Amino acid sequence: MAVQSAQSLSQRVGWPGQGVHRVPYRVYTDPEIYAAEQHRLFRGPVWNFLGMASEVPAAGDYVTRHIGDTPVVMVRDQDGGINVLVNRCGHRGNLVCTRTSGRAEHLTCVYHNWLYDLKGNLTSVAFRRGVAGKGGMPDDFDMAGHGMPRLRTATFHDLVFATFSDEVAPLSDYLGAEMRANIERVVGRRMCLLGTHAQYMPNNWKLYMENVRDSYHASLLHMFQAAFRINRLTMDGGVRLSDGGWHHISYSKEATDRQGDETYGGKKLRAMDQGFELADPSLIARWQEYPCGTTLAIQSIFPNFIVQQIYNSIALRLCVPKGPENCELMWWVLGCEDDTEAQRQIRIVQSNMIGPAGLISMEDGVVGGWVQRATRNDGDETTVLEMGGRDVAPSEGSRATEVSIRGFWNGWRSLMAV
Ligand code: FES
Ligand SMILES: [Fe+2]
Repeated sequence: MAVQSAQSLSQRVGWPGQGVHRVPYRVYTDPEIYAAEQHRLFRGPVWNFLGMASEVPAAGDYVTRHIGDTPVVMVRDQDGGINVLVNRCGHRGNLVCTRTSGRAEHLTCVYHNWLYDLKGNLTSVAFRRGVAGKGGMPDDFDMAGHGMPRLRTATFHDLVFATFSDEVAPLSDYLGAEMRANIERVVGRRMCLLGTHAQYMPNNWKLYMENVRDSYHASLLHMFQAAFRINRLTMDGGVRLSDGGWHHISYSKEATDRQGDETYGGKKLRAMDQGFELADPSLIARWQEYPCGTTLAIQSIFPNFIVQQIYNSIALRLCVPKGPENCELMWWVLGCEDDTEAQRQIRIVQSNMIGPAGLISMEDGVVGGWVQRATRNDGDETTVLEMGGRDVAPSEGSRATEVSIRGFWNGWRSLMAV
């Protein structure tokens, strides 16, 4: 689909006013807005998370991923470098790597057997000289320039990012010092992959990214969090934002919850319906892993990457758009190389809180679809995003705020130019 001019896209979006405290429901359903996002946002000046470098340890190891909805391949070459290639054959556009992962000496397009090296260069064209002197490619066909497009790539610790943009600042500046520090705190060690989940959700990808940034909902929607005192707004914590609010961290410290029972009691809060107990309290057994006392930290890196620490449950998440009204959430569940066996077991047991059927995160997996269903015919109507005010500024001390969602829309509006 053609990229729209700024003016007609603006008209199409119909953003109400200058702020970011009202979002028209149309942005979750409109195919043209979705198509514009692919170019202006995912192929624009952002760094997209791809996966972990340790997922492709040896030369020829590859995994297939997406940037927005563009298929890409992350592959380790013989020099030890990681290349992120658009997964599209230079001949007639076939998907080159069709498996989710593998190991290969070169990348082979099955359609007509064109071959690419691990940096994406075209190295062989089947029957290039024809057969028995007839057919074949013209003599002046130049293999250079017909490779799989290679993207600008950067890593931070074990995390691999890529961008279509020549203009975006280096990854380290894009993240900024505060965001880098939290990533470093959570996964800046020798990590190992304990497992993965993937879940398909019947909602626009931005509804999930709003949910991730929504520190207001965490102890209201999630009965498990409030009932078992995992995350309450009465704990010390806050919301940190990068410049303009594009990235965020929401964090809390469980040991500081002194007023929780009084504040949450007697308010008709569904999450506080009483009578729940854990038959097996070891489900939330944990150890104090971080000297700072942070027991929960959810971080999002614009546009669609998430770093999670819930107690000792560490995970990376990527919300991949799958058309205007669907998305796929990928989870990397992590441990540390240095974990004791007991610590490893605690992380695995705690991972019952997350993922598609997670005791906390299953509600996040459905609520987006409910919003999608309830709003799809009302594109002119808008959300209300005024908890904590209408501005985009860090909120130290309070998480009863939607400020980090407003930060997301600040980034979105600026890249979409609407
Ligand atoms: S499309 Fe890939 S070889 Fe023809
Ligand atoms: Fe949630």
